[in-house]
Amino acid sequence: MIYFDHSATTPIHPDVLKKIHEVNRDFFANPSSIYKTGRKSRLLVEKARTQVANAIGASSEQIYFSSGGTEANNHVLWQIIKQEKKHVIISEIEHPAVSKVLKEIETYGIEVSTISVNDQGVVKIEELIDLIKDETTLVSVMMANNEIGAIQPIKKIKQILKKYEIPLHTDAVQALGKIKVDVKELDVDYLSLSAHKFYGPKGIGALYVKDKDDLGSLIIGGNQESGVRGGTENISGIIGMGLAAELVTKNQDKWIKNLKELEGYFLEKVEHHLPHAIHHKTDNLPGLISISFPGKKSNILMAKLDRANIAVSNGPACSSGNIQPSSVLKAIGLSDDVNLSTLRISFGKNNTIEEVDYLIKTLKEIV
Ligand SMILES: Cc1ncc(COP(=O)(O)O)c(C=O)c1O
Repeated sequence: MIYFDHSATTPIHPDVLKKIHEVNRDFFANPSSIYKTGRKSRLLVEKARTQVANAIGASSEQIYFSSGGTEANNHVLWQIIKQEKKHVIISEIEHPAVSKVLKEIETYGIEVSTISVNDQGVVKIEELIDLIKDETTLVSVMMANNEIGAIQPIKKIKQILKKYEIPLHTDAVQALGKIKVDVKELDVDYLSLSAHKFYGPKGIGALYVKDKDDLGSLIIGGNQESGVRGGTENISGIIGMGLAAELVTKNQDKWIKNLKELEGYFLEKVEHHLPHAIHHKTDNLPGLISISFPGKKSNILMAKLDRANIAVSNGPACSSGNIQPSSVLKAIGLSDDVNLSTLRISFGKNNTIEEVDYLIKTLKEIV
């Protein structure tokens, strides 16, 4: 299988895979246990916390492990119902792990406002300023979009919010490993991560919290994660995430260079061989391409590519198989026809020029 769907998930890095196996075999003791093997598990968990913290310029006590990006987002967002202020602002292209949560939270009397995006998928800052009111308790804008790769001006948004003392959450699940994520520079209050998007295991993520006192619990139980996230730690997942975070930090420049080269090569070939294709150009994540083939249905294109052993997506992975027009593509102004003919191609660190050639050749035959 030639895999071009790295925004959905990435293959686990071989070093991470090896580590996970070793940990499951050798360090099964509960990190809360006080005997030697338990203490060893604890040490490994804390090392991973530091590795994740280092990858985003945080300190280790600001990192809380979760079951993934969805839980990290939920953790922050569900705190809103305990706040005195009852208004929250999000962008119109958030992942369902933010937008659907807020639909639910609305039923608790929370008012939700939405900032729209321009045709490049970037939030309209002037709208944000208009939406802010005394009652605003949180703003949540993703760092980079999972369908079109649009990168949001998080630092600028925070500068505005600072004047009003409104905290900012950003879903950086798609960002780490593809663009610089530095919590100090961004100055965000909360940031969500997911290991499986940067060659780590699935079912493990983390939430960065600038100031721990600001955080309540979502998953209530034991005293793990400094009392804010109950449940025995997923040790192998945590350690796998830590190593993946370290590897991504070390190799980021090299991996990004490869993604950019593949993207440039692919788009050049598209121009020559597939002149009717429409590339939705944004200031995008490297290696993530949103491209439409007017007159062709994306689900049919995907099925034909699958038959040729090529994996791509036609929208958010979580709703693949779903052939409704994408709300993100709608938000950037695409008609339903173009919307439904759009593929998302997302390259990864191991993809090659030869694989891109095969993709172009196959797309040309199909289209
Ligand atoms: C932007 C974004 N946020 C959140 C998630 C959910 O992360 P997880 O799969 O770790 O729950 C995804 C996964 O597709 C995503 O792309």
